Amino acid sequence: MVKKEIIAVIGATGTQGGGLVRAILADHNSPFSVRAITRKPDSEKAQALSKLGVEVVAGDADNPASLERAFAGAHGVFCVTNYWEHFSVDREGSQATAMARATKTAGVQHVIWSTLEDTRKRIPLDDARLPTINGKYKVPHFDSKGSVDHVFAEEAAPTTYLLAAFYWDNFIYFGMGPRKGADGELALSMPLGGVKLPGIAAEDIGGCAYGLFRRGTITVGKRFGIAGEVLSGHEMAAKMANAFGCKVNFNDVPFDVYRGLGFPGAEDLGNMFQYQAILGDEFRRNRDPALARSLKPGLLSFDAWLSKNKARIPLE
Ligand SMILES: NC(=O)c1ccc[n+]([C@@H]2O[C@H](COP(=O)([O-])OP(=O)(O)OC[C@H]3O[C@@H](n4cnc5c(N)ncnc54)[C@H](OP(=O)(O)O)[C@@H]3O)[C@@H](O)[C@H]2O)c1
Repeated sequence: MVKKEIIAVIGATGTQGGGLVRAILADHNSPFSVRAITRKPDSEKAQALSKLGVEVVAGDADNPASLERAFAGAHGVFCVTNYWEHFSVDREGSQATAMARATKTAGVQHVIWSTLEDTRKRIPLDDARLPTINGKYKVPHFDSKGSVDHVFAEEAAPTTYLLAAFYWDNFIYFGMGPRKGADGELALSMPLGGVKLPGIAAEDIGGCAYGLFRRGTITVGKRFGIAGEVLSGHEMAAKMANAFGCKVNFNDVPFDVYRGLGFPGAEDLGNMFQYQAILGDEFRRNRDPALARSLKPGLLSFDAWLSKNKARIPLE
Protein backbone atom coordinates (compact mmCIF):
# COMPACT_ATOMS: atom_id res chain seq x y z
CA MET A 1 0.00 0.00 0.00
CA VAL A 2 1.29 3.48 -0.88
CA LYS A 3 1.92 5.55 2.24
CA LYS A 4 -0.35 8.57 2.43
CA GLU A 5 1.15 12.01 2.92
CA ILE A 6 0.04 13.98 5.96
CA ILE A 7 -1.90 17.24 5.72
CA ALA A 8 -1.76 19.04 9.08
CA VAL A 9 -4.87 21.17 9.53
CA ILE A 10 -5.06 24.20 11.79
CA GLY A 11 -8.70 24.92 12.66
CA ALA A 12 -9.65 21.25 12.15
CA THR A 13 -12.32 21.60 14.86
CA GLY A 14 -13.70 24.72 13.15
CA THR A 15 -15.41 25.69 9.92
CA GLN A 16 -12.71 26.07 7.28
CA GLY A 17 -10.29 23.45 8.60
CA GLY A 18 -13.16 21.10 9.47
CA GLY A 19 -14.37 21.26 5.87
CA LEU A 20 -10.89 20.29 4.69
CA VAL A 21 -10.76 17.37 7.13
CA ARG A 22 -14.14 16.09 5.91
CA ALA A 23 -13.13 16.53 2.25
CA ILE A 24 -10.02 14.41 2.76
CA LEU A 25 -11.89 11.73 4.73
CA ALA A 26 -14.65 11.59 2.10
CA ASP A 27 -12.15 10.75 -0.65
CA HIS A 28 -11.29 7.12 -0.04
CA ASN A 29 -8.60 7.26 -2.74
CA SER A 30 -7.01 10.36 -1.29
CA PRO A 31 -3.21 10.48 -1.39
CA PHE A 32 -3.46 12.32 1.94
CA SER A 33 -4.20 11.54 5.56
CA VAL A 34 -5.23 14.18 8.10
CA ARG A 35 -3.55 15.47 11.22
CA ALA A 36 -5.90 17.72 13.17
CA ILE A 37 -4.17 20.47 15.16
CA THR A 38 -6.08 21.79 18.16
CA ARG A 39 -5.35 23.62 21.40
CA LYS A 40 -7.69 21.21 23.19
CA PRO A 41 -7.19 17.57 22.16
CA ASP A 42 -9.67 16.55 24.89
CA SER A 43 -12.52 18.72 23.60
CA GLU A 44 -15.67 17.08 22.27
CA LYS A 45 -14.91 18.24 18.72
CA ALA A 46 -11.34 16.95 18.84
CA GLN A 47 -12.51 13.62 20.30
CA ALA A 48 -15.12 13.30 17.55
CA LEU A 49 -12.31 13.61 14.98
CA SER A 50 -10.27 11.06 16.85
CA LYS A 51 -13.19 8.62 16.70
CA LEU A 52 -13.19 9.02 12.90
CA GLY A 53 -9.61 7.80 12.90
CA VAL A 54 -8.03 11.24 12.53
CA GLU A 55 -4.66 11.82 14.21
CA VAL A 56 -5.23 14.64 16.73
CA VAL A 57 -2.19 16.63 17.84
CA ALA A 58 -1.85 19.55 20.26
CA GLY A 59 -0.76 22.87 18.80
CA ASP A 60 -1.36 26.50 19.68
CA ALA A 61 -0.63 29.39 17.35
CA ASP A 62 0.26 31.47 20.42
CA ASN A 63 3.04 28.97 21.16
CA PRO A 64 5.40 28.73 18.13
CA ALA A 65 7.34 25.72 19.45
CA SER A 66 4.10 23.72 19.69
CA LEU A 67 3.47 24.37 15.98
CA GLU A 68 6.89 23.10 14.93
CA ARG A 69 6.17 19.85 16.77
CA ALA A 70 2.65 19.65 15.31
CA PHE A 71 3.88 20.14 11.72
CA ALA A 72 6.82 17.71 11.93
CA GLY A 73 6.66 15.11 9.16
CA ALA A 74 3.70 16.74 7.39
CA HIS A 75 3.64 17.16 3.61
CA GLY A 76 1.11 20.00 3.72
CA VAL A 77 -0.28 22.47 6.24
CA PHE A 78 -3.55 24.40 6.12
CA CYS A 79 -3.26 27.68 8.04
CA VAL A 80 -6.24 29.70 9.24
CA THR A 81 -6.50 32.25 12.05
CA ASN A 82 -9.61 33.26 14.00
CA TYR A 83 -9.70 37.05 14.38
CA TRP A 84 -13.16 36.94 15.97
CA GLU A 85 -11.91 35.05 19.01
CA HIS A 86 -9.82 38.03 20.24
CA PHE A 87 -10.43 41.01 17.88
CA SER A 88 -6.69 41.78 17.86
CA VAL A 89 -4.88 42.54 14.61
CA ASP A 90 -1.51 42.21 16.35
CA ARG A 91 -2.33 38.81 17.82
CA GLU A 92 -3.68 37.48 14.53
CA GLY A 93 -0.51 38.72 12.82
CA SER A 94 1.74 37.01 15.42
CA GLN A 95 -0.23 33.77 15.14
CA ALA A 96 -0.01 33.72 11.34
CA THR A 97 3.69 34.59 11.46
CA ALA A 98 4.33 31.73 13.90
CA MET A 99 2.48 29.34 11.58
CA ALA A 100 4.40 30.53 8.53
CA ARG A 101 7.81 30.16 10.17
CA ALA A 102 6.97 26.76 11.68
CA THR A 103 6.06 25.34 8.25
CA LYS A 104 9.55 26.17 7.02
CA THR A 105 11.32 24.82 10.11
CA ALA A 106 9.31 21.60 9.83
CA GLY A 107 10.29 21.16 6.16
CA VAL A 108 6.69 21.19 4.89
CA GLN A 109 6.25 20.96 1.08
CA HIS A 110 3.01 22.90 0.57
CA VAL A 111 1.13 25.44 2.68
CA ILE A 112 -2.32 26.90 2.10
CA TRP A 113 -2.79 30.21 3.90
CA SER A 114 -6.41 31.32 4.28
CA THR A 115 -5.99 35.04 3.86
CA LEU A 116 -8.00 38.12 2.88
CA GLU A 117 -7.05 41.39 1.21
CA ASP A 118 -5.09 44.14 2.97
CA THR A 119 -7.72 46.73 2.02
CA ARG A 120 -5.28 49.61 2.60
CA LYS A 121 -3.50 48.69 -0.63
CA ARG A 122 -6.61 49.84 -2.54
CA ILE A 123 -8.04 52.36 -0.08
CA PRO A 124 -5.18 54.11 1.73
CA LEU A 125 -5.72 55.35 5.28
CA ASP A 126 -6.09 58.97 4.08
CA ASP A 127 -8.92 58.02 1.67
CA ALA A 128 -12.04 59.45 3.30
CA ARG A 129 -14.43 57.16 1.39
CA LEU A 130 -13.96 54.56 4.16
CA PRO A 131 -13.60 55.51 7.87
CA THR A 132 -10.25 54.61 9.43
CA ILE A 133 -10.47 52.32 12.47
CA ASN A 134 -8.07 52.70 15.42
CA GLY A 135 -5.95 55.08 13.30
CA LYS A 136 -4.41 52.13 11.41
CA TYR A 137 -6.95 50.03 9.58
CA LYS A 138 -9.78 50.18 7.09
CA VAL A 139 -11.10 46.62 7.60
CA PRO A 140 -9.15 45.22 10.57
CA HIS A 141 -9.97 41.51 10.07
CA PHE A 142 -8.99 41.74 6.39
CA ASP A 143 -5.94 43.98 6.84
CA SER A 144 -4.53 41.76 9.59
CA LYS A 145 -4.50 38.73 7.29
CA GLY A 146 -3.38 40.46 4.10
CA SER A 147 -0.53 42.19 5.87
CA VAL A 148 1.13 38.86 6.72
CA ASP A 149 1.00 37.48 3.15
CA HIS A 150 4.58 38.69 2.66
CA VAL A 151 5.69 36.66 5.70
CA PHE A 152 4.30 33.52 4.03
CA ALA A 153 6.03 34.51 0.78
CA GLU A 154 9.37 35.17 2.45
CA GLU A 155 9.57 32.95 5.53
CA ALA A 156 7.20 30.00 5.08
CA ALA A 157 7.36 26.77 3.12
CA PRO A 158 5.94 27.15 -0.45
CA THR A 159 2.54 28.79 -0.01
CA THR A 160 -0.74 29.05 -1.95
CA TYR A 161 -3.13 31.84 -0.94
CA LEU A 162 -6.85 31.10 -0.51
CA LEU A 163 -9.38 33.94 -0.20
CA ALA A 164 -12.81 32.89 1.06
CA ALA A 165 -16.08 34.73 0.48
CA PHE A 166 -18.85 35.68 2.94
CA TYR A 167 -20.14 32.47 4.54
CA TRP A 168 -23.86 31.95 3.85
CA ASP A 169 -23.74 30.18 7.25
CA ASN A 170 -23.59 33.69 8.79
CA PHE A 171 -27.36 33.66 8.19
CA ILE A 172 -27.54 30.84 10.76
CA TYR A 173 -24.95 31.74 13.38
CA PHE A 174 -24.38 35.48 13.33
CA GLY A 175 -27.91 36.80 13.47
CA MET A 176 -27.65 38.00 9.88
CA GLY A 177 -30.71 36.06 8.71
CA PRO A 178 -34.06 37.64 7.85
CA ARG A 179 -36.13 39.10 10.69
CA LYS A 180 -39.79 39.97 11.01
CA GLY A 181 -40.46 43.70 10.76
CA ALA A 182 -43.27 45.76 12.32
CA ASP A 183 -45.35 44.92 9.23
CA GLY A 184 -45.04 41.21 10.12
CA GLU A 185 -43.07 40.47 6.94
CA LEU A 186 -39.60 38.95 6.88
CA ALA A 187 -36.79 41.19 5.70
CA LEU A 188 -33.14 40.46 5.00
CA SER A 189 -31.20 43.54 6.13
CA MET A 190 -27.59 43.98 5.01
CA PRO A 191 -25.40 46.91 3.97
CA LEU A 192 -24.59 46.04 0.36
CA GLY A 193 -24.65 49.49 -1.28
CA GLY A 194 -26.58 48.06 -4.23
CA VAL A 195 -23.81 45.64 -5.29
CA LYS A 196 -23.75 41.86 -5.49
CA LEU A 197 -22.14 39.84 -2.69
CA PRO A 198 -19.87 36.85 -3.35
CA GLY A 199 -20.98 34.18 -0.89
CA ILE A 200 -20.18 30.52 -0.25
CA ALA A 201 -21.33 27.51 1.75
CA ALA A 202 -18.70 27.54 4.50
CA GLU A 203 -18.25 23.77 4.14
CA ASP A 204 -17.09 24.26 0.53
CA ILE A 205 -14.07 26.35 1.57
CA GLY A 206 -12.30 23.29 2.93
CA GLY A 207 -13.33 21.39 -0.21
CA CYS A 208 -11.62 24.04 -2.33
CA ALA A 209 -8.53 23.86 -0.10
CA TYR A 210 -8.49 20.11 -0.70
CA GLY A 211 -8.67 20.76 -4.46
CA LEU A 212 -5.61 22.99 -4.13
CA PHE A 213 -3.64 20.36 -2.20
CA ARG A 214 -4.61 17.86 -4.94
CA ARG A 215 -3.35 20.20 -7.64
CA GLY A 216 -0.06 20.39 -5.75
CA THR A 217 2.74 22.89 -5.71
CA ILE A 218 1.97 24.27 -9.19
CA THR A 219 -0.43 26.52 -7.27
CA VAL A 220 2.34 27.96 -5.07
CA GLY A 221 2.59 31.76 -5.09
CA LYS A 222 -0.85 32.12 -6.67
CA ARG A 223 -4.04 33.58 -5.14
CA PHE A 224 -7.32 31.69 -5.37
CA GLY A 225 -10.42 33.72 -4.50
CA ILE A 226 -13.50 31.52 -4.21
CA ALA A 227 -17.29 31.94 -4.06
CA GLY A 228 -20.30 29.68 -4.52
CA GLU A 229 -22.36 32.39 -6.19
CA VAL A 230 -22.40 36.17 -6.50
CA LEU A 231 -25.87 37.52 -5.68
CA SER A 232 -27.60 40.84 -5.01
CA GLY A 233 -29.54 41.40 -1.80
CA HIS A 234 -32.80 41.15 -3.73
CA GLU A 235 -31.69 37.88 -5.35
CA MET A 236 -30.77 36.38 -1.94
CA ALA A 237 -34.10 37.53 -0.47
CA ALA A 238 -36.02 36.04 -3.44
CA LYS A 239 -34.23 32.72 -3.04
CA MET A 240 -34.98 32.74 0.70
CA ALA A 241 -38.65 33.48 -0.07
CA ASN A 242 -38.68 30.49 -2.37
CA ALA A 243 -37.05 28.27 0.26
CA PHE A 244 -39.25 29.43 3.17
CA GLY A 245 -42.45 29.65 1.12
CA CYS A 246 -43.21 33.20 2.26
CA LYS A 247 -42.36 36.75 1.27
CA VAL A 248 -38.85 38.01 2.17
CA ASN A 249 -38.01 41.68 1.52
CA PHE A 250 -34.53 43.12 1.23
CA ASN A 251 -33.35 46.25 3.10
CA ASP A 252 -30.08 47.74 1.90
CA VAL A 253 -28.93 49.19 5.23
CA PRO A 254 -26.85 52.39 4.95
CA PHE A 255 -23.20 51.69 5.85
CA ASP A 256 -23.15 54.34 8.62
CA VAL A 257 -26.25 52.86 10.22
CA TYR A 258 -24.70 49.37 10.19
CA ARG A 259 -21.40 50.65 11.63
CA GLY A 260 -23.40 52.29 14.45
CA LEU A 261 -25.26 49.13 15.50
CA GLY A 262 -22.89 48.75 18.43
CA PHE A 263 -22.23 45.00 18.42
CA PRO A 264 -18.56 43.96 18.63
CA GLY A 265 -17.08 44.22 15.13
CA ALA A 266 -19.93 46.35 13.69
CA GLU A 267 -17.55 49.04 12.37
CA ASP A 268 -15.18 46.43 10.95
CA LEU A 269 -18.01 44.58 9.15
CA GLY A 270 -19.65 47.81 7.98
CA ASN A 271 -16.34 48.84 6.43
CA MET A 272 -15.93 45.37 4.92
CA PHE A 273 -19.26 45.64 3.09
CA GLN A 274 -18.49 49.21 2.00
CA TYR A 275 -15.03 48.18 0.76
CA GLN A 276 -16.72 45.52 -1.39
CA ALA A 277 -19.15 48.13 -2.73
CA ILE A 278 -16.38 50.65 -3.50
CA LEU A 279 -14.26 48.07 -5.32
CA GLY A 280 -17.32 46.73 -7.15
CA ASP A 281 -16.40 44.43 -10.05
CA GLU A 282 -12.78 44.25 -8.93
CA PHE A 283 -13.79 42.64 -5.62
CA ARG A 284 -16.20 40.25 -7.34
CA ARG A 285 -13.62 39.20 -9.94
CA ASN A 286 -11.42 38.11 -7.03
CA ARG A 287 -14.08 35.63 -5.82
CA ASP A 288 -14.81 33.34 -8.76
CA PRO A 289 -17.51 30.62 -8.62
CA ALA A 290 -16.16 28.91 -11.78
CA LEU A 291 -12.70 28.64 -10.23
CA ALA A 292 -14.19 27.35 -6.98
CA ARG A 293 -16.23 24.73 -8.88
CA SER A 294 -13.08 23.55 -10.66
CA LEU A 295 -11.46 23.00 -7.25
CA LYS A 296 -14.55 21.45 -5.63
CA PRO A 297 -16.92 19.64 -7.97
CA GLY A 298 -20.44 19.70 -6.49
CA LEU A 299 -19.93 23.16 -4.98
CA LEU A 300 -23.27 24.34 -3.56
CA SER A 301 -25.34 27.11 -5.14
CA PHE A 302 -27.26 29.38 -2.75
CA ASP A 303 -30.49 27.50 -3.60
CA ALA A 304 -28.83 24.17 -2.79
CA TRP A 305 -27.33 25.59 0.42
CA LEU A 306 -30.75 26.93 1.45
CA SER A 307 -32.50 23.64 0.80
CA LYS A 308 -29.99 21.89 3.12
CA ASN A 309 -29.94 24.59 5.80
CA LYS A 310 -33.24 26.52 5.78
CA ALA A 311 -34.50 24.82 8.94
CA ARG A 312 -31.40 26.06 10.80
CA ILE A 313 -31.93 29.75 9.96
CA PRO A 314 -33.65 31.38 12.92
CA LEU A 315 -36.61 33.44 11.66
CA GLU A 316 -37.45 35.90 14.43
N1 LIG B 1 -17.55 34.32 8.52
C1 LIG B 1 -17.23 34.67 7.28
O1 LIG B 1 -18.10 35.03 6.46
C2 LIG B 1 -15.78 34.64 6.87
C3 LIG B 1 -15.46 34.78 5.51
C4 LIG B 1 -14.11 34.75 5.13
C5 LIG B 1 -13.12 34.57 6.10
N2 LIG B 1 -13.48 34.43 7.42
C6 LIG B 1 -12.39 34.28 8.42
O2 LIG B 1 -12.42 32.96 8.92
C7 LIG B 1 -11.65 32.95 10.13
C8 LIG B 1 -12.22 31.93 11.08
O3 LIG B 1 -12.20 30.66 10.48
P1 LIG B 1 -13.33 29.59 10.83
O4 LIG B 1 -14.66 30.17 10.45
O5 LIG B 1 -12.91 28.30 10.25
O6 LIG B 1 -13.23 29.59 12.43
P2 LIG B 1 -14.07 28.78 13.53
O7 LIG B 1 -15.07 27.87 12.93
O8 LIG B 1 -14.52 29.80 14.54
O9 LIG B 1 -12.95 27.89 14.22
C9 LIG B 1 -11.76 28.43 14.71
C10 LIG B 1 -10.70 27.35 14.65
O10 LIG B 1 -9.43 27.93 14.91
C11 LIG B 1 -8.74 27.15 15.86
N3 LIG B 1 -7.89 28.07 16.64
C12 LIG B 1 -8.25 29.26 17.16
N4 LIG B 1 -7.20 29.80 17.81
C13 LIG B 1 -6.17 28.93 17.69
C14 LIG B 1 -4.84 28.93 18.18
N5 LIG B 1 -4.35 29.93 18.93
N6 LIG B 1 -4.05 27.89 17.86
C15 LIG B 1 -4.53 26.85 17.13
N7 LIG B 1 -5.80 26.79 16.64
C16 LIG B 1 -6.60 27.83 16.94
C17 LIG B 1 -9.82 26.50 16.71
O11 LIG B 1 -9.32 25.27 17.19
P3 LIG B 1 -9.38 24.78 18.74
O12 LIG B 1 -10.39 25.63 19.44
O13 LIG B 1 -9.80 23.34 18.65
O14 LIG B 1 -7.99 24.95 19.25
C18 LIG B 1 -10.92 26.27 15.69
O15 LIG B 1 -10.77 25.03 15.04
C19 LIG B 1 -11.72 34.37 10.70
O16 LIG B 1 -10.44 34.90 10.91
C20 LIG B 1 -12.54 35.14 9.66
O17 LIG B 1 -12.05 36.45 9.46
C21 LIG B 1 -14.78 34.43 7.81
